[in-house]
Amino acid sequence: MAHEYPLGVKHVGSSRTIATRMLRHEDMNGSDRLFGGRLMEWIDDAAGIAARRHAGTAITTVAVDTLEFHHPAFLNDIVTIEAWVTHVERTSMEVRADTYVENTVTGERRMINHAYLTEVCIDEEGRPTPVPWGLVANTPEEHEECAASKKRAELRKLRRAQGI
Ligand SMILES: CC(C)(COP(=O)(O)OP(=O)(O)OC[C@H]1O[C@@H](n2cnc3c(N)ncnc32)[C@H](O)[C@@H]1OP(=O)(O)O)[C@@H](O)C(=O)NCCC(=O)NCCS
Repeated sequence: MAHEYPLGVKHVGSSRTIATRMLRHEDMNGSDRLFGGRLMEWIDDAAGIAARRHAGTAITTVAVDTLEFHHPAFLNDIVTIEAWVTHVERTSMEVRADTYVENTVTGERRMINHAYLTEVCIDEEGRPTPVPWGLVANTPEEHEECAASKKRAELRKLRRAQGI
């Protein structure tokens, strides 16, 4: 069902958020690799900023789709998270967050993770409230991502309805 967005539309690029950090000792786990929970926190943070940039309201994370870690990251590596809103429903938004790790000695940059999060606009009582802005895609990549995100939204609804 098509939703109405009272404030009009924003471009995908309006929410684009880039967070960069150099890995310190306190970010490592017992095997001297980046602690996955720390990365999850940074992903949630970047996704929340992207959602807030789009909606301009208070938001909360209601779900994170599969999180896979494809490569490790080590001390002094630079981690960059790029997050942006890919789809808007009635009160919820899908945010994509891609994580890259850069080795500062070799300059090699690898994607270690990409995740989809669902962020919900909330009012002062913490209740879901409509997203005031719709989303418009410009580039072919953005159109492709938007089309795929509609399918993901349908699958999420189906999974929730079936309790799986
Ligand atoms: C987010 C929250 C306000 C939603 O409340 P709710 O009573 O579930 O409200 P609804 O069922 O109307 O869902 C609101 C929206 O979230 C979506 N949603 C709810 N649960 C979802 C899930 N598990 N996965 C994906 N989307 C979900 C719904 O589809 C709906 O989106 P839409 O309006 O765009 O169609 C409530 O679940 C909450 O406060 N959760 C805790 C969030 C939090 O504190 N996060 C921080 C980490 S603990």
